[in-house]
Amino acid sequence: MAESAPAFKTQMVWKSVQELVLNGDELPENYIHKDRDGGDLDVPLVEIPVVNLGQLKSLSTSKEELQKLRSALSTWGCFQVINHGMTPSFLDEVREVTKQFFALPMEEKRKYSREADGIEGYGNDKILSEKQILNWSDRLYITLNPEQRKLKFWPENPKVFRDILNDYTIKLSIVTAVILTAMARSLDLEDNCFLDQYGKEATMRAGFNYYPKCPRPDLVIGLEEHADASAITFLLQDNEVEGLQFQKDNQWFKVPIIPEALLIIVGDQTEIMSNGIFKSPVHKVVTNSERERISLSVFCLPGLNEEIGPIDRLVDESRPRLYKKVKNYVGIYFEYYQQGKRAIEAVKI
Ligand code: OGA
Ligand code: NI
Repeated sequence: MAESAPAFKTQMVWKSVQELVLNGDELPENYIHKDRDGGDLDVPLVEIPVVNLGQLKSLSTSKEELQKLRSALSTWGCFQVINHGMTPSFLDEVREVTKQFFALPMEEKRKYSREADGIEGYGNDKILSEKQILNWSDRLYITLNPEQRKLKFWPENPKVFRDILNDYTIKLSIVTAVILTAMARSLDLEDNCFLDQYGKEATMRAGFNYYPKCPRPDLVIGLEEHADASAITFLLQDNEVEGLQFQKDNQWFKVPIIPEALLIIVGDQTEIMSNGIFKSPVHKVVTNSERERISLSVFCLPGLNEEIGPIDRLVDESRPRLYKKVKNYVGIYFEYYQQGKRAIEAVKI
């Protein structure tokens, strides 16, 4: 096919981090943090519990398991969940199709490229200013809900990609409901109070992340520190390579790998709904000079028309309302993110 004339190009050509590495390019300036370091791989471990989902599901949910959940969400804002209905070999298949997608030739992956003004698709950081320091990662974003799917962004290669992702979607929706219910129970609230705000038109968006090996982990960050815009995020970590870290009391802590577990992260919207009792933690990904890393984040986002706000029963004299009611939090989030600020500050009272 003939190359289209540059004047007709609607999209700037972008370079994946993967290509930089494959071409052996010198480390570009706009990935280098000059004012601070990229982070240390060798930090203490996050002390978060492993919660058994089977125990949370039963009607007579064990008090002990709920207590564990509540304490994890109000201190770290994350926990690992096991016994979630997905076998270790299924989770390995999900990891495998992720790896296989990123291992495809560039021109094949580019078929799924993000459009200039879009969110979904294959790409990396949008460049918004000359001063911006970029993340050392490439990503593929896909909306998972059947009625919101844009199949043009769903890889056809590897062949099983779509089937596996569809299965993963179905299983995660079930787990989401169990977790949002358990969160309510752990605070002695009505079962549905988080689920009701989460709404029937909630969106699940998958982010497949690829962190290539990096020549200078001391200067470069895989994914800049941030908190998630979601209600909750499911993170399927690489089963061998660490990199994710959480911040608490101005210190960084790394997340241990438990191959059969999913990591659940509280997002800003749960912090808002819980009136600040559950914490949306700041986290980042550090790079690694020895090995590449993959991960799969699934962001569970309340419906765009849903109004999110502190649950009434969590507001009283001793605990005043901390956040305003808000719709389309994700819109605010991106606006703030681009200015390097935390969006949750915008909805504080
Ligand atoms: C994210 C995220 C962590 C990881 O996608 O928001 O925090 O380990 N990812 O890739
Ligand atoms: Ni995140």
